[in-house]
Amino acid sequence: MGDLRVSVTDRCNFRCPYCMPLQVYGERYKFLPKSEILTFEEIARVVRLFVDLGVNKVRLTGGEPLVRQGLEKLIAMLSGIPGVDDLTLTTNGYLLAKQAASLKEAGLQRITVSLDSLDDEVFKQMNGLGLSVAPVLEGIEEAARVGLDPIKINAVVQRRVNDHTILDLARRFKGTGHVVRFIEYMDVGNLNGWKPEEVVAASEIVNIINAEFPIEPASPNYRGEVARRYRYLDGDGEIGIISSVSQPFCADCTRARLSTEGKVYTCLFASVGHDLRGPLRSGATDGELTDIISDIWARRRDRYSEERFELADSPRRKIEMYQIGG
Ligand code: GTP
Ligand code: 5AD
Ligand code: SF4
Repeated sequence: MGDLRVSVTDRCNFRCPYCMPLQVYGERYKFLPKSEILTFEEIARVVRLFVDLGVNKVRLTGGEPLVRQGLEKLIAMLSGIPGVDDLTLTTNGYLLAKQAASLKEAGLQRITVSLDSLDDEVFKQMNGLGLSVAPVLEGIEEAARVGLDPIKINAVVQRRVNDHTILDLARRFKGTGHVVRFIEYMDVGNLNGWKPEEVVAASEIVNIINAEFPIEPASPNYRGEVARRYRYLDGDGEIGIISSVSQPFCADCTRARLSTEGKVYTCLFASVGHDLRGPLRSGATDGELTDIISDIWARRRDRYSEERFELADSPRRKIEMYQIGG
């Protein structure tokens, strides 16, 4: 176990059709009530226990983490835990411009912004609410200004939706020091009607970029790095490709996930989570909680992305992305 991803809210200010389609998550949809969401104190305690078990990288996710009130207080608590060497957050960037400075001040080290296209029409369609891309770009600029770097930009590529805008994204951030990472569209959750034909394979993405801006593979920054790195031959930085469909990387996975309601998931595609909130709220000691967590990790056998096509005939129910944040 090396990396803990903590979902701080199941709510989001976007309705990306591949994650939280508006038809399902409309005005009447009931998100978790406050009483069922882990408090900042509970999250900090769980993070401390995971750190004692070897985690040194913590990523806050959602839903959209920046919609959780007072998030900077949680960041301050987590950045004070010895052993949290890498503290970061994945956001859709829409509220980032206003919050970047206070997040940095609270101890956030760097940030990853999800941005699927720079084309306003494509972006409007992909966030499901017709919102413009400009605030996200302002958020990225402000994050860079306050030093939340290295900044990563995550773009999910979906055939016939945004694959024609891949080059624009690469061009825009080439030479800025920010790293664009193109993600193969995955069958996360149960709602996006994923079809293999909609996946643009890593090799195809590499070819599209290489034809315009020559690139070469670079070695991983650390074992188990999700993105494969490619550097521009002209020295103008690098891009990453996350190829979990065409080249699964389950064997190297060291990621644990804590959902908004305090369940531990050992895979992005898991069907069931293991409850920690119950024991947390009924007086379990640190030692008892640590035993529960170690046991969950020891029994883990997940390798969904490697089995994806074998399982296709017997689909199982999976956790939704917005509950564990990718
Ligand atoms: P860095 O620490 O900056 O290298 O980031 P990271 O590798 O932790 O990547 P990030 O959290 O930005 O993840 C990028 C994307 O990769 C996620 O949004 C998911 O779409 C995908 N991803 C992350 N973890 C997994 C995983 O365990 N399995 C699969 N199949 N995809 C994953
Ligand atoms: N496939 C790949 N990536 C996805 N994300 C959300 N749904 C999917 C999917 N089906 C990405 C988001 C964001 C991160 C949290 O996960 O775009 O970058
Ligand atoms: Fe919100 Fe992210 Fe899901 Fe889009 S992918 S609906 S931004 S949680």
